[in-house]
Amino acid sequence: MQIRDAYKARYGTDATVVSRAPGRLEVLGNHVDYNAGCVLSVAVDRYMTLAASPCGGGVCRVWDEVLKEERVFSLEGLLEHEKGDWANYIKGVLVEFGKRGIPVPAFNAVIAGNVPLSAGMSSSAAFEMACGLAFAKLANADIDWIEMAKIGQGAENNYIGAKTGLLDQFSSLKGKADSLVYSDFRSFTAKSIPMPKGLTFVVVNSMVKHVLTSEYNDRRQACEKAVAIISQRHPEVKALRDVNSTLLEAERRHLPETSYKCSAHVVGELERVAACLECLKQGDVVRFGQLMYQSHESSRTLFENSCEELDEIVDIAHSMPECLGARLSGGGFGGITVHLVRSEDAESYASRIAEAYLAKTGRKADTFVCAAADGAKLL
Ligand code: GLA
Repeated sequence: MQIRDAYKARYGTDATVVSRAPGRLEVLGNHVDYNAGCVLSVAVDRYMTLAASPCGGGVCRVWDEVLKEERVFSLEGLLEHEKGDWANYIKGVLVEFGKRGIPVPAFNAVIAGNVPLSAGMSSSAAFEMACGLAFAKLANADIDWIEMAKIGQGAENNYIGAKTGLLDQFSSLKGKADSLVYSDFRSFTAKSIPMPKGLTFVVVNSMVKHVLTSEYNDRRQACEKAVAIISQRHPEVKALRDVNSTLLEAERRHLPETSYKCSAHVVGELERVAACLECLKQGDVVRFGQLMYQSHESSRTLFENSCEELDEIVDIAHSMPECLGARLSGGGFGGITVHLVRSEDAESYASRIAEAYLAKTGRKADTFVCAAADGAKLL
């Protein structure tokens, strides 16, 4: 059922606002956003949608059309929450609006979506951005896109407790059909780069749920520790973005092993993203794919945010000639892998890799072909 119809069926009236925000694939640049670097990502044709209308009073009702569950909460009691509940993303966004002095009137809403949950495709950021756009409309507020991204990040950092960066929200907001998103997390800018012709991404979901709180936050701390230590001798270093591999090696003996390894991953990713930009300019898609494989290897051995299932999928990809490159995508610790393949091979590749994974491990993976899509909007 379309979201507007679902809203009408539930509340008997038309929704006054409908928003839609895509999930994303992180193409290259793993754990680089909160280190002030540049990342290549792509918004894809999987969305979270929300339909809402103001309802008067101070109580909000939200129906999840996929889970068939309702949440009812008071705007007065936004800080009360049960850990892990899906309504926390809504409440967290409302709290961020409140902090900015933008009161959102009470509403009835229906939500739906087909971004896989807890898989590394940013279902949560897509949900936050769908909420953010709709709430801005309900509040009659004009919020620029960077502030909107920060509202989503604020919900993650302050309400959910995941110290995530801005990549997911940037990608969901700034996606464009047939394009990659190149985001710079120092200048807070994002631009579109055409997707190389004839290529597409296949997602292979390991179905291992990833939970991005403690391990993610630990990795982030390890990076920050490295910056604190390196900057004692090199005050110009404000973030890992300011560190190259030569400097990192020179500083290695001052760093705890974990901080060194995490930093080596991030610095490598910074270099790979820069190299990938060159490949995109020159149409060198073979090297593009190799950079993706290298990124995964670095996650596996240095950042240690891969897992057996993800490694297995990427290994199988490596043995299949249709695949140019594959890697884990997003936070890691489970979830999806992203595979760069020629468009004409995509469907058959998706089923062949799932079969090969099943045959080798006895485990089932979910696969789908993604198209690069436009960013979040009101419909
Ligand atoms: C998650 C976070 C992002 C980013 C990626 C890793 O998706 O939400 O901010 O750090 O992990 O690159």
